[in-house]
Amino acid sequence: MPAKPKYYLTTPIYYTNGLPHIGHTYSTIVCDTIRRYKRMRGYDVVMTTGTDEHGVNVERSAKKAGVPESEFVAKMAAEWRALWDELGVQGDEFIRTTDLKHAHTVQWLFKQCRDNGFVYPGHYTGQYCIYDNAYVDVKPGENCPDCGRPTETVTEANFYFKLSAFQKPLLDWYAKHPNFIQPEARRNEVLSFVEGGLRDLSITRTSVRWGIPVPGEEPHVFYVWFDALTAYLSAVGGPQYEKTGYWPADVHLVGKEIIRFHAVYWPAFLMAAGLPLPKQVWAHGWLLMDSAKMSKSLGNVVRPRPIVHVLGMDALRYYLLRETVFGQDGNFSYDALVQRYNSDLANGLGNLASRTAAMIEKNSGGKIPKPGDLQPQDTALAAKAQETIGEVLEQYDKLGFSLALEELWSLIAATDKYLTTEHPWSLGETDADQKRRATILWTTAEVLWIVTVLTHPVLPESTAKVWTLLGQTGQPSSVALDGLRWGQLAPGTPLGKSQALFPRIEKAEAIERMEAMEKEEQKQPSPVTTPAPASAPAVGGAATAAAPATAEKIGIEDFAKVEMRVGQIKTAERIVGADKLLKLTVDIGTEIRQICAGIAQYYEPEKLIGRKVAVVVNLAPRKLRGVESNGMIVAASVGPEGRPVLAGFPDEDVEIGARLK
Ligand code: MSP
Repeated sequence: MPAKPKYYLTTPIYYTNGLPHIGHTYSTIVCDTIRRYKRMRGYDVVMTTGTDEHGVNVERSAKKAGVPESEFVAKMAAEWRALWDELGVQGDEFIRTTDLKHAHTVQWLFKQCRDNGFVYPGHYTGQYCIYDNAYVDVKPGENCPDCGRPTETVTEANFYFKLSAFQKPLLDWYAKHPNFIQPEARRNEVLSFVEGGLRDLSITRTSVRWGIPVPGEEPHVFYVWFDALTAYLSAVGGPQYEKTGYWPADVHLVGKEIIRFHAVYWPAFLMAAGLPLPKQVWAHGWLLMDSAKMSKSLGNVVRPRPIVHVLGMDALRYYLLRETVFGQDGNFSYDALVQRYNSDLANGLGNLASRTAAMIEKNSGGKIPKPGDLQPQDTALAAKAQETIGEVLEQYDKLGFSLALEELWSLIAATDKYLTTEHPWSLGETDADQKRRATILWTTAEVLWIVTVLTHPVLPESTAKVWTLLGQTGQPSSVALDGLRWGQLAPGTPLGKSQALFPRIEKAEAIERMEAMEKEEQKQPSPVTTPAPASAPAVGGAATAAAPATAEKIGIEDFAKVEMRVGQIKTAERIVGADKLLKLTVDIGTEIRQICAGIAQYYEPEKLIGRKVAVVVNLAPRKLRGVESNGMIVAASVGPEGRPVLAGFPDEDVEIGARLK
């Protein structure tokens, strides 16, 4: 078999002086979606991400936290890494600018540029913005034109990079590679910047201590952007990049505010060193909150965890990719997020999957039916599906995620309509009717199969569930998109396990829960100033939301206030209109209590009867969805979706009513 072509894409590396919000998450989600898509297109893909850990900003934050810089960045980088792991978007390689292999690559790149005559020593005085890590063209006392924050006058000895020598080579490069900078608006912006003339760039600092040293030139350290950009190369072999075969990168995905660093400075450094240039730099827009860029300094950030906890990671992925035209700015609102979740995911894809499976279960003995003669309406839907395949692949290739999803949801809508007009449920039991019903259900299942494969890069978790439901083995990612066509779902395949997909959620309730969790997150102290938070057992009992981990210490007397006892579940039933709650009666030794638990999506009520659980018995009673709950069942909160796992006593036959202490 011929070797797969290599494809290398990168997220920006993130500053470690803050924690991720959904603006950062957006960059990473987009990259992860491209990675999954390209793998399904037959590429050997590597995606890298990481952390940008040097500079004055970090020096100051570490000082404020009272810890050495190395400790500060190690803890922050661990947080970033853990979040990406939790969200399932971890890169194949996580590069930190404090990694030794990275320092070697930066020093090596500098040497190449210097040996080739593009570096010279000098002095510089200018206004410096420590937030953007760049000198800016303003007078002393004036604020940064980009972020509006105060600038500082800095005079220092440094090494210059002869950027001015690259004006023509860069313009030639852009002309020869018209797709190098995307989208068009950003390309124009960069072109006019370069056409306006390039000034040499200071690439080392003597006013900063926390950076990679310039060998033999101490106290010079590298300017953070010379350092950070090089991470793309360090991640795939550094000086030995030829051995890994992933350089040059296929695409650097970045936010629009850092396009100049990527489309001007970075290619110039590479040209100076005689190295191959990346094939493309794609700048996405910003996520805005109340019309301003979401950012920590403006205090308008939204974190990913509360959203993922309440609606699931796929909901966040879908919303970000569907709602924003890639390349343009997009507005974030909880309202629109839940709206999309309910209308497109719960009522759209989720509903199509569950009703298709239910009809096949009922009418075809749980096996994908064999179609009979096709009617024009069947072939029309098949033709639409076939057309959608082409259009979606074309859009994905252009990173036109919102249009790709629009096409797919139009196919879902057409299938819903097809079911309504063909109404298989009202056909009778004659031979002809049965055959007709089999054809309709096969056609519907076939569309669902195609939609599942094509939405997989955007909705990896939920499409894996639909995949199982359709009785398929492996993952939808194992389908080669190049060969995707109508008619690949084999009749006779038995359906598999059904799992909750996108349970409908009441908008006000969802928003309230996300906002409450967001407030909690904001209150969390920085990971650097406090010991790592212990993972608190989540309470699956009275509330459906698991408690976020807390770091605050309590005395034993506080713990003693919580009365926890062994209880035994006597009855368990679902509550109409509350998808997540079960109503339980629990024997706690002294009485039988009614307790509601947010575990309905994960536990079958019948299987809970007789089970011994840990119960908080002295909680004030409250009503949940109108049902009285008097106590709380203890559960661990597992994974990004906060799946509740009941705490139990498997090893000993513990007495009902025994106290937990
Ligand atoms: N460390 C530099 C990048 C160096 S790459 C060699 C940096 N870091 S950052 O943490 O500030 O930003 C990283 C990415 O997050 C950027 O692509 C940026 O555009 C993105 N976002 C940060 N806030 C954002 C929004 N509100 N909306 C969308 N993306 C934004 O810059």
